[in-house]
Amino acid sequence: MAKRSYGNEELAMLVRWLEANDDSKSELLVKELAGVISASLAGRHVAPTNSAMAALHLPLQLIGVGPGDEVIVDPIVTFAGLAVMYQNAVPVFADIEPDTFNISPASVRQRITPRTRAIICTHHFGSICAIDEIVSIAKESGLIVIEDCSHALRATHRGIHAGLFGDFAAFSFNHRKQLSTGQGGFLVVNNTEYVEKLTRRAFGRIPESLSWNYQMSGIIAAIALAQWPRVEGYVAQDMEYSRLYSAAVGGSPLLAPQRLPQENVSSAHVWAAVFKGDEYGVNYDDFIRTLRGFGGDYFLPSFIPTGTFGLPPSPVYKYPVFREPVAYGVGCPVRCPLYEGTYDTSDGLCVNAEYVVPRLLNTVLSPLTPERMSIYVEALHQTLRYYA
Ligand SMILES: Cc1ncc(COP(=O)(O)O)c(C=O)c1O
Repeated sequence: MAKRSYGNEELAMLVRWLEANDDSKSELLVKELAGVISASLAGRHVAPTNSAMAALHLPLQLIGVGPGDEVIVDPIVTFAGLAVMYQNAVPVFADIEPDTFNISPASVRQRITPRTRAIICTHHFGSICAIDEIVSIAKESGLIVIEDCSHALRATHRGIHAGLFGDFAAFSFNHRKQLSTGQGGFLVVNNTEYVEKLTRRAFGRIPESLSWNYQMSGIIAAIALAQWPRVEGYVAQDMEYSRLYSAAVGGSPLLAPQRLPQENVSSAHVWAAVFKGDEYGVNYDDFIRTLRGFGGDYFLPSFIPTGTFGLPPSPVYKYPVFREPVAYGVGCPVRCPLYEGTYDTSDGLCVNAEYVVPRLLNTVLSPLTPERMSIYVEALHQTLRYYA
């Protein structure tokens, strides 16, 4: 077990970066990082980026998603839907499974239209979604699959790492993630058809066609290289923390922790449980007040903070950016002659997400020390005893 830490290795790497930078060779550190990550992911092509958002956007650009096209996304986080709108295309929200909190293959299937180009599936909280089904649905319909692995660094399904199933996969090194460089991330390209296209087009200052400079900077790569050998320790710590929370819930009917399919090993970036207390006459706001009273002030009652834009916690399609998507200010994505579909954000669009999101008790695990962890575990324990 290891708490996220920074020390002499990072300082040594910063010196390497300063020296390489003097020599205009700091991009070599980016290449070195790509090689290290690739070696841990079956030798697949890896492009370090300045964020996971960049790594979600790049594939959509590479496959040529544009106005009039639809991309299926999940409704718990904003990121996939935003990346789709970067291309002036239409995000189509599919429902989640009520117990794994991941995108539902059945709902994905229902959302496919002649306009669908891709599916972006997020591996929520560190547990890989029903990826085998998603990939086979995508194959049947000729769609591209992009895995959002921002929560799922080193997670596995059938012993295979997150990021190795879809055509592309995006990872994040932002400040909340297990490996954090403040900002940063990387794109994995499994579909070899796009490797050359990516290397020719992306990050180019004189590209063959429009591209964005999303490349990771050398200084961030230097820190990531120093941190990389510690990743497995960080994940092991969070898996242990997650186990402690779930053990504190025990058999309480008030909370149902995220269900992990049998063949999944979660990276446990976030511990999450759906509150079921309203079925037993317990009000969620009271429950949260009691939890805080016992010292559990680090838990969030919903994944999107309560009160964002003055709205109750809801699936992200209820938020202004998706409710009235304007992207670049006029027409597209949804009000334009190229779009022949009907954009939908109405109540009942994703019934499971509408139930789960407002009741999703959750906490990021990486920043916690064992001492704080034991306070929060005890708070959870006491709260559930109070309502037993
Ligand atoms: C699931 C998911 N996808 C994408 C992102 C975006 O990551 P980044 O900040 O690296 O752009 C995040 C950020 O928290 C995330 O949680």
